[in-house]
Amino acid sequence: MDAIELVDLTKIFPGKKGARVKALDHLDLRVPQGEVFGFLGPNGAGKSTTIKILMGLIRPTQGQARLLGTPATLPQARLTTGYLPENPAFYDYLNASEYLTFIGQSFKLDTTTIAARSETILHRLSLWEARKRPIRSYSKGMVQRLGIAQVLVHQPEIYILDEPMSGLDPIGRALVKEIILELKAAGKCVFFSTHITSDVEAVCDRVGVILKGKLQTVQEVGTLMEKGITGYHIRHRMPGQEIFKESTIRPEELQVFMTNIFQSGEEVILLEPLRKNLEAFFLSIVSQGSSNDQ
Ligand SMILES: Nc1ncnc2c1ncn2[C@@H]1O[C@H](COP(=O)(O)OP(=O)(O)O)[C@@H](O)[C@H]1O
Ligand SMILES: [Mg+2]
Repeated sequence: MDAIELVDLTKIFPGKKGARVKALDHLDLRVPQGEVFGFLGPNGAGKSTTIKILMGLIRPTQGQARLLGTPATLPQARLTTGYLPENPAFYDYLNASEYLTFIGQSFKLDTTTIAARSETILHRLSLWEARKRPIRSYSKGMVQRLGIAQVLVHQPEIYILDEPMSGLDPIGRALVKEIILELKAAGKCVFFSTHITSDVEAVCDRVGVILKGKLQTVQEVGTLMEKGITGYHIRHRMPGQEIFKESTIRPEELQVFMTNIFQSGEEVILLEPLRKNLEAFFLSIVSQGSSNDQ
């Protein structure tokens, strides 16, 4: 059974003056348990709409969404799911400690479990010092980190995170990536939206690119990175010499080039693949998608 299943998902919002906004257009996607999936797309692509349908916050016009086989419209689908909204808002007169207790109680955890988990999580997200201060006094980054914290309390099987790295400084981003990789190691499914390709490169098994409500492509990130090799950069020199040579060659030249180097007795100091990064791949899909409209 897949962790996430989206079948023929379509959402039409009523727009201004009777116009209709097609936010999702027959989207099909399955994400197995244990996978980290990056949902990549520009602003307005339909990422949050998909996520809100998955969390049962809005209903699709057509199609179905299921979490571990349970329709997303049923409340029990939420029991095994953690959700970070795009712009998390909290009862800001509470402090972080109280908020996590409230979340733990909502999931019917006992007091001892809530206290133990809260302590670990608050330390992990650097909120321990601030835990007794009202949330209203928190910075944007702290609020975002509390958003991540509240997802972890009930230790769900599936994590649905709407732009989890947004509003965080580099340390916060690195921490969130580390947490995502730990969840993956624990066999959980993490589905997160982003418009930043380097976040996908760092943690995802697969990436799906969404544009104007349509899923353009789903790819293995590892394969994409391999396919993207455009050449090699090689630093080499004769043994005992101070000065080294730098060469940049095309992929098909590698074998002959390396054979020549070894035959001439040179040593290789660095061999680095040059690749078209995920950013270039993403941009090419976005520009193709836009030109298809015309
Ligand atoms: N409640 C709504 N009413 C009308 N249009 C909406 C509503 N929510 C989203 N949209 C529109 O649906 C499209 C997709 O939005 P969204 O899913 O928020 O995109 P993303 O999260 O990828 O930035 C956008 O054109 C947006 O304006
Ligand atoms: Mg969004």
